[in-house]
Amino acid sequence: LTNNLKSDLNANLCCHATGDPQVDTAVYQWMTWDRNPQTRAQIESLVKAGHVEELRRRLCSRMSFGTAGLRAAMGAGFARINDLTIIQSTQGMYKYLAKFFPDLGSRGLVVGYDTRAQETCGCSSERLARLTAAVMLCKDVPVYLFSTYVPTPFVPYAVKKLGAAAGIMVTASHNPKEDNGYKVYWNNGAQISSPHDKEILRCIEESVEPWPDSWNEKLPDSSALRSDPLQEICHLYMEELSSLCFHRELNSKTSLKFVHSSFHGVGHRYVQQAFKVFGFPQPIPVPEQKDPDPNFSTVSCPNPEEGESVLELSLQLAEKEGARVVVATDPDADRLAVAEQCKWKVFTGNELAALLGWWMLYNWKETHPEVTEFKKVYMLATTVSSKILQTIARTEGFHFEETLPGFKWIGNKICDLTKMGHEVIFSFEESIGFLCGSMVPDKDGVSAAVVVAEMAAYLENKNLTLNQQLKNIYETYGYHISKTSYVICNDPPTVKRIFSRLRNFGGENLYPILCGGYNIVQVRDATTGYDNNQPDQKSVLPVTKSSQMVTFTLQNGIVATLRTSGTEPKIKYYTEFCAPPGESDISSLEEELKRVTAALVEEFLEPDKNNLIPRSV
Ligand SMILES: *[C@@H]1O[C@H](CO)[C@@H](O)[C@H](O)[C@H]1NC(C)=O
Ligand SMILES: *[C@@H]1O[C@H](CO)[C@@H](O)[C@H](O)[C@H]1NC(C)=O
Repeated sequence: LTNNLKSDLNANLCCHATGDPQVDTAVYQWMTWDRNPQTRAQIESLVKAGHVEELRRRLCSRMSFGTAGLRAAMGAGFARINDLTIIQSTQGMYKYLAKFFPDLGSRGLVVGYDTRAQETCGCSSERLARLTAAVMLCKDVPVYLFSTYVPTPFVPYAVKKLGAAAGIMVTASHNPKEDNGYKVYWNNGAQISSPHDKEILRCIEESVEPWPDSWNEKLPDSSALRSDPLQEICHLYMEELSSLCFHRELNSKTSLKFVHSSFHGVGHRYVQQAFKVFGFPQPIPVPEQKDPDPNFSTVSCPNPEEGESVLELSLQLAEKEGARVVVATDPDADRLAVAEQCKWKVFTGNELAALLGWWMLYNWKETHPEVTEFKKVYMLATTVSSKILQTIARTEGFHFEETLPGFKWIGNKICDLTKMGHEVIFSFEESIGFLCGSMVPDKDGVSAAVVVAEMAAYLENKNLTLNQQLKNIYETYGYHISKTSYVICNDPPTVKRIFSRLRNFGGENLYPILCGGYNIVQVRDATTGYDNNQPDQKSVLPVTKSSQMVTFTLQNGIVATLRTSGTEPKIKYYTEFCAPPGESDISSLEEELKRVTAALVEEFLEPDKNNLIPRSV
């Protein structure tokens, strides 16, 4: 620090000290390290206004760093995403990676970013990505920094293709516009898993003081160690994408029209290109949403999962253009929503997975006519997603495996299975995250969009809609109807007590044997690692002591999972009726599912006794 700056700081602090020693120290640290005039000004004005509590919230705790990396609002403070916290986090990343990879200096790191920005703190995903690159470059680590925004799956894809040690994507996906995030991929291209996260956090805590060159955002322009992987990766990605294309002829002749929304994010040019690879005419873009807009001006929230309300412009345009199918990628294009016209039907993640799973299997069989057994073929889903693929797998003879919730588990599973010579042809999570094939060990909205288009065109040629085919799948394999909801519980000891009661329901270590009047035939407790359906009573899922999750399978085909949310004070419940083929009285299945779900909540959670707040609807 120059003497001038020091005396400036001291002058500021002696005039504006808050009187709280802990907060004052944190303010001093912030002002010593932060060089972004806008975030400095934010802290200064909070000090001037005497907002001690707000200062404490922003400065006296650090954002947690988990397997999902960082996710928080942009703004000044150690608890927010900004230049300084990204520099600190990247310094910690460097420290950890350098320990782990002796060849870090040759393997390098991939850095990508989305289109988020917040003017008030001079923060944009691009700037944060450049600072991330600068920190690594000043330690002589080669950096593959994309020269423009890219879909999130491009980063893990690049990590794999370039043999990089790791990848970082600056994105907050479909979060509100105030937020940003920092997603970390390991050298296998999957998101990091424990204990990397805890180790990285420790390294961050040991590296909080910015190195002299960490603020040099110009470094990526001048350093010979920086390269731009955009062209090569885009080319390789599109080339490999064609391996998911099975009916190019039909695609080029289809009379179906498609509308695509990018939700103000990165998707437009990449989805257009993907359609070209498949031989389709360009999908019609929603003009108001095709270019990046960090304000997400035309949607109440940038999450296509919200359904019809946020898809309004897309559906209107599709009606006007006579386009039957709408595909909408979320702002960082790793997830996909689909709607089909016939009175608009917006598919749930579970329904779309039934269609995509069927489709990927159908094409795999068509392209492997010599294979009569599917020992090496896998599909994956998270435990809280529909069991429809499990049902199809049992009938068709391929493998289905569940992972814990979160696509990082799927990504790592794909890497393991691939290493063992297996082929994962489709994976999904119910929150509209899909992966067709296994090009990228992460969900991918770009490939899913164009695969859905091909499936729709193929079905159209057979005089079928997506919705009719979904019915056919359910008629063949049995209807799968699911419900998801939650209750709020603001008292962690109560949550603990509720789950402890479930584990000692009919006596010590005895789980309930009835729910809604039906026998419980299987109990799987991911928190303790118990599964009464395994020969050794041990669950094959990794044990997750830090969160609660218990799954009950009922005699009548209903599967129910109770689970705490890692980040919110909620107990979530997921129920699904997996009916056998032939039972197609949907309204009575729905009625029964509703009744059993209500009984599950009443009997196992005791909302009145435990003061649980139901979800407001
Ligand atoms: C976003 O909205 C703010 C406030 O309305 C406005 O000042 C800013 O120019 C907008 N930014 C962009 C990129 O449209
Ligand atoms: C296509 O389906 C419609 C309605 O489902 C039916 O009326 C029509 O005859 C079918 N056409 C062909 C060629 O199968």
